[in-house]
Amino acid sequence: MIGREMAATRPRGDRAPEERRYYKLERKVWSLLAPLYDASGPLLSAIRERVVDLAAAPDGSRILDIATGTGKQALAFAKHGYDTVGIDLSDAMLRVAVRKSVSEKAHFVIADATMMPFPDGVFDVAAISFALHEMPVTVMRRALAEAARVIRTGGQLIVIDYALPGSRVASFLVYNFVKLYEGRYYADFIKLDVRELLSEFGIKVTAERAAISGAVAIKKGIREK
Ligand SMILES: C[S@@+](CC[C@H](N)C(=O)[O-])C[C@H]1O[C@@H](n2cnc3c(N)ncnc32)[C@H](O)[C@@H]1O
Repeated sequence: MIGREMAATRPRGDRAPEERRYYKLERKVWSLLAPLYDASGPLLSAIRERVVDLAAAPDGSRILDIATGTGKQALAFAKHGYDTVGIDLSDAMLRVAVRKSVSEKAHFVIADATMMPFPDGVFDVAAISFALHEMPVTVMRRALAEAARVIRTGGQLIVIDYALPGSRVASFLVYNFVKLYEGRYYADFIKLDVRELLSEFGIKVTAERAAISGAVAIKKGIREK
């Protein structure tokens, strides 16, 4: 199993200019925001436990938290005794995660979600929270392909991200509020049919929960083959 130390991965040389911009910006933004990120915590903390409950993974399951940031979702799984690995691009965010980690069950690794340093099918559950909406669609698709690769057949992928409430007024308000502080890819992400997208990677959504009055959706998918 991977240790608590961080292992670097090499960047891709063949990235399109838009992707290069995205990687540069992500690293810069999160190295600045890392010390502040957990201040946004209380609103989202309840979601972390709901994700663990929804996964209902048997004891001994191996968990991957993709784009783990400061490790909140990873640490929620580890607290329940699961061997958990959190990966992220940002060493600043991971340093916060490592600092908070009191569990030997949690390990953190610097890695890109689009080229994970793991063999096929080694995880029973992977989660990705509040990260897909930050990615250009090409990066998002590669990250989902990688997520599908590293979970076993019958394993789970749980996607936690922005959604829009059912009512038109609430949807208008949430969309325009989130757009004030989110990056350029949020507007594309929110139009996506995430169920449909996951099905392209062999993941069938079997359960969905709304959180924060429908502004967030938790989707649990199963890798079918
Ligand atoms: C909004 S934060 C979410 C962190 C955490 N998942 C949470 O729910 O609190 C987005 C995180 O995604 C990470 N990230 C973005 N693109 C990534 C990629 N291609 N590979 C790995 N991590 C990525 C960023 O470094 C950042 O820590």
